[in-house]
Amino acid sequence: MAIFVTGATGYLGSYLVAGLLREYRDSLNLLVRANSEQEARERLWQSLQLHFDFPEFFEQVSSRVRIFRGDLTSGRFGLSEGEYGALVESTDSIIHSAASLNRKSEKQCLNVNLRGSLEVIQLARRAQDRQGLRRYSHVSTVAVAGHRRNEVVSEETSIDWARSDYDPYARTKKFCEHMVAQLLPDVPRTIFRPAIVLGDSRRAETSQFDMVQAFDMLARLPVLPLRPHDKIDIVPADFVGKAIVIIHQKERPAHGIYHISAGVGAQTYQELTDSLAQVGGGRRPLYMPALGRPFSATVNWLAHRGGAVGYGASLMKVFWPYLDWNTVFDNSRVVAELGESPAKFSSYAYPLLKFSRANKFRYPAKPWPSSAGAASAKIVAGGARA
Ligand SMILES: NC(=O)c1ccc[n+]([C@@H]2O[C@H](COP(=O)([O-])OP(=O)(O)OC[C@H]3O[C@@H](n4cnc5c(N)ncnc54)[C@H](OP(=O)(O)O)[C@@H]3O)[C@@H](O)[C@H]2O)c1
Repeated sequence: MAIFVTGATGYLGSYLVAGLLREYRDSLNLLVRANSEQEARERLWQSLQLHFDFPEFFEQVSSRVRIFRGDLTSGRFGLSEGEYGALVESTDSIIHSAASLNRKSEKQCLNVNLRGSLEVIQLARRAQDRQGLRRYSHVSTVAVAGHRRNEVVSEETSIDWARSDYDPYARTKKFCEHMVAQLLPDVPRTIFRPAIVLGDSRRAETSQFDMVQAFDMLARLPVLPLRPHDKIDIVPADFVGKAIVIIHQKERPAHGIYHISAGVGAQTYQELTDSLAQVGGGRRPLYMPALGRPFSATVNWLAHRGGAVGYGASLMKVFWPYLDWNTVFDNSRVVAELGESPAKFSSYAYPLLKFSRANKFRYPAKPWPSSAGAASAKIVAGGARA
C-alpha cells in the first residue's frame, strides 16, 4: 500500500516527498503532469534535487515511487481504467498538496483547486469504500481566514462565511476545506494551513521565488510604506514539510486542523529590517505608513506594465493585502504536536536573499545526468514501478 501525494513537483510537495522517503518506509504514489515516464522522472528530479543528490534520488524513486502521469483537472486524472483502478487499490492515505497559487486567475483557481480537489476527494471516497483510508491530509492556507486586521486567528475561528476573501485563491481554498469535511465525514482528516512559506531555515537554497522577490523589492526601498510594529507571519518550508509529514503519519493527531505558522512569535517589520541591516551591513529604512495607500495605488498601476518592473509590481499587488493585514495565526497546536517552534525568519532571511539575488531569482537546476540514461531505460522497460 502507498501514500498518494499530489504536487510533488512543487516547492512544498518536494519537502513532503523528501520527508516521507527519508523518515518513513511507505511506498508513494505520485501524481505528476508529464507526457512520458522519463519526463515525469526528470520533473521529479528538478524538484527533489533540493533534497537529494542524484544517486540517492534515483535509488529512492526506483524502489519506492510509482508515478501516475495525470492531471487534476481531468476526470479520474486522465488515467486509463486500469491505472486508476491500480491507484485506488494501492492507496491507503492521501496528502493533497497540489494547487494553483495564481491569485490573479479565477479560472485557474476554479479548475485546479475546486475541480482538482473534488477529483482527489473522489479517489479518497473510492479507496475508503474499497479498503479503508488511514488519513486524508489536505494542504490549505491561512488565507482562508479572509479579510482581517490586527488579529491573532485560531484554527476554529478562521473560517467565517460572512467575510470576504482577498482573491480567488483564498476563496477556492476555503471551499476545498468545506468539500473535504462534507464529502469525507467518515475518513480521518487533517487540514493543514501554512502561513507565508518562505525559504528553508537550514540552507540558503530555494526553488520558489515569488514571495522572495516581493521581499527583495521591499528590502531595497529606503522608505517603507508599512507600520514598523506590524507582525508578518512567515514560516520556513522545512518546518512546514516536517509538520505535515509527522502529523499525517501519526495514528491519532490531537486536532483536525493545524495552522503551520509563526503565530504570536512572528516578527515585526522593524525586527526584520534591523536584522537584515545588521547582517548585510545596509542602511535601515525609514517607515512611513501614511504612504501605504499611494504605494498600493502605484503598484496597481505599474502591475499593468511589462518587463521586470511590471512583474515585480504584479507580485507586490497580489501579496500586498497579506503584508498589510498585521494578522498572525496561532500555532500552539503544531508546536505542541512537534515539540518545537519554527525558526525565526530573521535567522535565515539574509542568506535566502543573497542566494536569490545571486541566481537572479531562478533555481540553478541540474539537468538529468546523461550517465543515468541506461539505468533509467532499464527501469522503464521493467514495468510500472518507476
Ligand atoms: N507557498 C506558500 O507560501 C504556501 C502558503 C500556504 C499554503 N500553501 C499551499 O501549499 C500547497 C503547495 O504549494 P506550493 O508552494 O508547493 O506550490 P507550487 O510550488 O506552485 O506547486 C504546485 C504543485 O501543484 C501541481 N499542480 C498544479 N496544477 C496541477 C494540475 N492541474 N494537475 C496536477 N498537478 C498540478 C504542480 O504541478 P506542475 O509542476 O506540473 O505545475 C506543482 O506540483 C498548495 O496547496 C498551497 O495552497 C502554500
